[in-house]
Parts: sequence; structure tokens; C-alpha cells
Amino acid sequence: MPNDPALYEELADEWWRPRGKFAMLHWLAAARAEMIPPAPRPGAVLVDLGCGAGLLAPRLEGKGYRHIGVDRSPSAVALAAEQGVAAVRGDVLAVPLADGCADVVAAGEILEHVPDLPLAVSEACRLLRPGGLVVIDTLADTLLCRLIAIGVAERLRGLAPRGVHDPDLLVDRDELVAECAGHGVELELRGIRPSIVDFAAWLAGRRPAVRMLGAPTTAVLFQAWGRKLP
Ligand SMILES: C[S@@+](CC[C@H](N)C(=O)[O-])C[C@H]1O[C@@H](n2cnc3c(N)ncnc32)[C@H](O)[C@@H]1O
Repeated sequence: MPNDPALYEELADEWWRPRGKFAMLHWLAAARAEMIPPAPRPGAVLVDLGCGAGLLAPRLEGKGYRHIGVDRSPSAVALAAEQGVAAVRGDVLAVPLADGCADVVAAGEILEHVPDLPLAVSEACRLLRPGGLVVIDTLADTLLCRLIAIGVAERLRGLAPRGVHDPDLLVDRDELVAECAGHGVELELRGIRPSIVDFAAWLAGRRPAVRMLGAPTTAVLFQAWGRKLP
């Protein structure tokens, strides 16, 4: 069964292996962190939806946020807590946190795993305080994405575990933009991809990580960001 929650329990030991099955999530966390500015005020809160094992945490060091994570996987929540994340077990479709609690909401590689995109967006925007920033990376609902991100990437070491993605849950970009706009968040989008040169060097054991670069299209992997209207 694709997108089976049990997969994250079976692969719990892979999260923090830099050359393991979740390696690309480390590269994506680095790219996501670059979009997050230093905390705008003392006590600022960043809510990390589908936080997994807290891969974003080391990348936020020194930025000044209180990092709260929400994930439904018990093993991931435990691992995130070890990284200093205030990790809560919960569903991103019914987040157990107050309206307007977040200066930043990060939704990294989560929207392509949920069966109700409008509800996930509504929850993310509900958590944001006015002027707060949402930062997203996810997979587009296109044939190209099915071919590359599922057909190819799930067969290549380090890019994605087999069966982690359900093609029916890939994210319609127009719907994402419209849903966010409906909650007062105007999104900008840009395509990203791993550096091919870095990836070859990583496979050969000559690089510890792979840089994510801009891509000419948002039709596969893309980042999105926007601020909630005051
Ligand atoms: C691909 S991982 C991404 C983890 C993390 N954001 C990262 O980039 O390292 C997806 C995560 O979302 C979690 N997840 C999937 N559906 C969820 C839901 N409905 N509510 C909460 N967490 C969910 C999974 O348990 C998993 O940890």
C-alpha cells in the first residue's frame, strides 16, 4: 500500500543515516531552512507540520525559534524530541495547537502525503499569526512528477523509499495557490531539483550531501512560500 504510515516505523533507523533511505530529506531540509529568516521576535514559534525525525532542527540552530513539531508517527516524534523539537503526536489535518500561534509554519514534504489538501492548508494557515510566513516543499500533481519522483526516484538510492508516495495525493499547484489565497496567504512558487553533479559525487561517496538547485519548472519538486495578510 503506498503512503502506508507503517513504513515510517519500519524505517525509523534510516532517518538520521546521511546515506540512508531518507538522505534526500536532509538536502531538502537544508534548502527549506534557507527560506526561513531569523526569528522576528523573542519567543517566536516555528511549527513544523509532519516534522518527521526533526531533520530541520539542526538547520534552525541560531535562528532563535521555539521549534514545535507535529507528526503522526510515534517513532518520528521520539526522534524529533531527541533533536530538541517540542514534538507532538498528531494529525496535520487536526493540529492540536492554537490559532495564530506560529510565526512560521513549515510544511516540508508533507502535503503530498495527506488525503485532504484544502484541510491541510486551512490548518497551516489557521496556525499562522498575521504577517507570519508559510514555507512549503512538495511534489506536483503531474505526469512528469509521477515518472520522476515515483517511477525513478523511488528506485534510486537516497532519493525516496519505495512506496512512500501515493500518486493520487500529489499536489495540484493551482489548488494549493487558490486554497492559500483563500486564507490570506499569497504564495510564490519555484521548482527545485538535486544537483546532478553532487548526486553523482554523493553516490560515489565523495560528497556528504547534495545541494538543491533551482529547476526550470515547478512540475516536479517545488518550494512555495508566502506571508499571511496582516
Ligand atoms: C516524507 S516525511 C517528511 C518529514 C519531514 N518534514 C522532513 O522533511 O524531514 C513525511 C512525514 O509526514 C508524516 N505524516 C504523514 N501524514 C501525516 C498526517 N496526516 N499527520 C501528521 N503527520 C503525517 C509522516 O509520519 C512522516 O514523518
